Amino acid sequence: MTAVLEVEDLAVSFPSRGKPVRAVDELSLSLEAGETLGLVGESGSGKTVTALAALGLLPRSSRVRGRILFDGRDLLTLPEREWRRVRGNRISMVFQDPMTSLNPLLTIGRQLEEVFECHRSLPRRQARTASIAALGEVGLPRPEARMDAYPHELSGGMRQRVLIAMALACRPSVLFADEPTTALDVTIQAQILDLLGRMQRESAMAVVLITHDLGVVASSCDRVHVLYAGRSMETARTDPLFAAPMHPYTSGLLRSVPRLDDPRDQPLPTIAGHPAVADGRREGCPFEPRCPHAALPCRTDPIPLVALPGGRASACSRPDALRELEARGTR
Ligand SMILES: Nc1ncnc2c1ncn2[C@@H]1O[C@H](COP(=O)(O)OP(=O)(O)OP(=O)(O)O)[C@@H](O)[C@H]1O
Ligand SMILES: [Mg+2]
Repeated sequence: MTAVLEVEDLAVSFPSRGKPVRAVDELSLSLEAGETLGLVGESGSGKTVTALAALGLLPRSSRVRGRILFDGRDLLTLPEREWRRVRGNRISMVFQDPMTSLNPLLTIGRQLEEVFECHRSLPRRQARTASIAALGEVGLPRPEARMDAYPHELSGGMRQRVLIAMALACRPSVLFADEPTTALDVTIQAQILDLLGRMQRESAMAVVLITHDLGVVASSCDRVHVLYAGRSMETARTDPLFAAPMHPYTSGLLRSVPRLDDPRDQPLPTIAGHPAVADGRREGCPFEPRCPHAALPCRTDPIPLVALPGGRASACSRPDALRELEARGTR
């Protein structure tokens, strides 16, 4: 398989009073044509910032290092005028917040038509036909009638589907989908995930699926990348990761998911403490203050992502913790 997108040692920080916020730190990942990579981690772990970096949408105030390779180019060096041919066309994104991502002053039909006019150079009439088809594809009922609706006239789930239709309109090679199904009921959620899967089979579109829903990850992703405080904690194929996580943070995330066979009178296990603030602390493991396996070196020693058998990698350097996780087999 060929990598369509490669992120190498990406670091993104934002200036702030005091220490800069280090939102993403030395992140590397590669994405193959047709695959779905799940990007998971608690709130503030750097998932959206990673996606925005790959779309050239980080604020000017941010400081960015590393490389994002796409089509033989480093996207981090792409001039703005060339971004127009890539963004929304070859690489697109379903944004996390459906209300702020649509223009409230334009009908959804006009907003979709613009995508086809700009990127596919379709005349208005054909852009309209293509837009109606795109709305139908994402399961919006009576798509023709919805063309004249303004965003506020649609439900949250409908707006989400309009955004997905816009992102898929140009059949991108890479799609960043940031919580694409959070606002949707399970039926529509399944429909959208099926649509993404179909498009992946038809056009080998690669998807980075950002979600807090580990059930969606288990059912839709080929591989998973676990982020904590902007750093990679673990990466693995989905099945082995769920069967036997090789990082205490992954294990904690998986144990926090409610299961039908859990005893009702017992509280749901959670990861103690609060998600780390991306405060730029460089030494040691960022998960150390919350880790049940932490020892003194975790606070001070460099904790690189180390390759493990089976093509996976973990940033936990405590062999006894890993042995315990392995012995437990499943969460
Ligand atoms: N424009 C910005 N200016 C300053 N800090 C920012 C900016 N955007 C993001 N951050 C910080 O970067 C870190 C990562 O944010 P990001 O939005 O990527 O988190 P996330 O993993 O997507 O979280 P969530 O699951 O809540 O969407 C956070 O600490 C956030 O406060
Ligand atoms: Mg986010």
